[in-house]
Amino acid sequence: MSKIISGFSKLTKEEKIKWLAANYFNNQPEIIDTIKQYWNVDSTLQQLHDDFIENTISNFYMPYGVAPNFIINGREYVIPMVVEESSVVAAASLVAKFWSSRGGFKTEVLSTTKIGQVHFIYEGDIKTLTQYFESKKEDLKLATSSITKNMEKRGGGILNIELVNKTEKLDNYYQLHVTFETVDSMGANFINSCLEAIAKEFRNDEIEIVMSILSNYVPECLVKAEVSCKVEELGGEDPQKFAKKFCQAIQIAEIEPYRAVTHNKGIMNGIDAVVLATGNDFRAIEAGVHAYAAKSGHYTSLTHCEVKDNIFRFWIEIPLALGTVGGLTSLHPMAKLSLDMLQKPSAKELMMIMATAGLAQNFAALRALTTKGIQHGHMKMHLMNILNQLGANETEKQEIARYFEGKTVSHSAVVEKFNQLKK
Ligand code: MEV
Repeated sequence: MSKIISGFSKLTKEEKIKWLAANYFNNQPEIIDTIKQYWNVDSTLQQLHDDFIENTISNFYMPYGVAPNFIINGREYVIPMVVEESSVVAAASLVAKFWSSRGGFKTEVLSTTKIGQVHFIYEGDIKTLTQYFESKKEDLKLATSSITKNMEKRGGGILNIELVNKTEKLDNYYQLHVTFETVDSMGANFINSCLEAIAKEFRNDEIEIVMSILSNYVPECLVKAEVSCKVEELGGEDPQKFAKKFCQAIQIAEIEPYRAVTHNKGIMNGIDAVVLATGNDFRAIEAGVHAYAAKSGHYTSLTHCEVKDNIFRFWIEIPLALGTVGGLTSLHPMAKLSLDMLQKPSAKELMMIMATAGLAQNFAALRALTTKGIQHGHMKMHLMNILNQLGANETEKQEIARYFEGKTVSHSAVVEKFNQLKK
C-alpha cells in the first residue's frame, strides 16, 4: 500500500502521530510513547512550539548550557549555549576564565549593512534601462514607505538602491542591489517585503522580474573580536613555543582549505550554540560565514594570529547578521531568557558576544590540538557519555574514570571494565 497521503497537514496532532506509527513504525506503541514523552506538560507552551512550524508532532531537546567568566569590552557575561557536542561548553568556559585575567576580549562592530536583490531579465538597450532606473529611483523608495516607516523611526531603512549589470555572466541579467540597515532586527521579513514592493514598482513590459530576496552573504555586516597578551603571560611550560605553534596552526588553516573547513567548524561550534540559544537563524549565519571565508576565491581561516614585539594577538573577523528583537527572539521563552541573561543586548552587542564565543572556541581547539591533542579532553567526555548510557552510578563513574586516566578510551574497553566492576 502506498504511503503517499493527501491532506496530512489537516489532520490533528494525534491523527498525524497515529498515521506515522501505522505507516512507518508497524504501530509499535513505544514509538507513540517516545513522541509524547517529549511534549511539554504545559499545553499552552506546547501549543506555542507547535505553531512555530508545520506538522509538529513533538519537540526535539538540545542541551542548554552556560559558559561563565567572559569579559567582553570590560563587561562580564555568562553566555548561553545550545549544542549537542560534549566539550564545547567546557572549552568556552575554560578559555573565558583564561582570558579574563589577561584583559578579556576586545570587540568592535565594523559595519552593519544588509543586502537584498531584485533579479530581473531585460533584453533592451542598457542606456534606456539606466535612464528608466534613474527616473524611478525615488518612486522605488516611495513604494516601500509604509514598510520602512517604523524601521526609519528606529534608525534603519533602505540605504541605497543600485542598478547592476550582470550581462557578462548571464545574458540579459540585471539586478537592483539594495542595501539596508535593520538595527536590532535580523530584518529578513522587512528586507523581503521592501524588495517585493520595489520589484512591483520597477517592473514594466520589458523588465521581467525573476525573484526578489535578501542575501545571506553579508560581508558588510562585520564584527571583530580579539585577545592579546605578552607571550610569557600565555603560561604553560614554554609560552614562546606555544605561541609559535599556535600561529603555525592558523597559518596552515589560512592556506589549506581541508584544514580551514575544520578550523572554521570549530569556530562555529561556539557561534552556532549562541545563535541557537538566542533564537537566531543558524542556517543564515552558517551560509554567510562560509561564503565570507571563501571571499578571496580561496576558502581560508576566519581567525588570524601574530606575535609582534613579544605580544601574542589572536583575532576573528566574521559577518553576523543577527536580531535581538522580532522573530523567534521574542516568541521562544528560552531565547528571551538567553537575551535577558546577556543583559538585553542590541544586535551589535550580540554580534560582539558571538564573535567572542567563536574566537574562544577556536582558541580552545588550537590550544588542545597543538599541545595534548584533541582526543584527550574529548575522550573524558566520551567516557562519561558511555557510562551514562550504561547506567553507571557516581561511584562507578569515578572508579572507571580513574582507571582510564592515561589509557585509550574505546566503547568496548569501557563496557568491559564496567561489567568487571559489576561482577
Ligand atoms: C570539533 O567539533 C571541532 C574541532 O575539530 C575544531 C578544530 O579542529 O579546530 C576540534
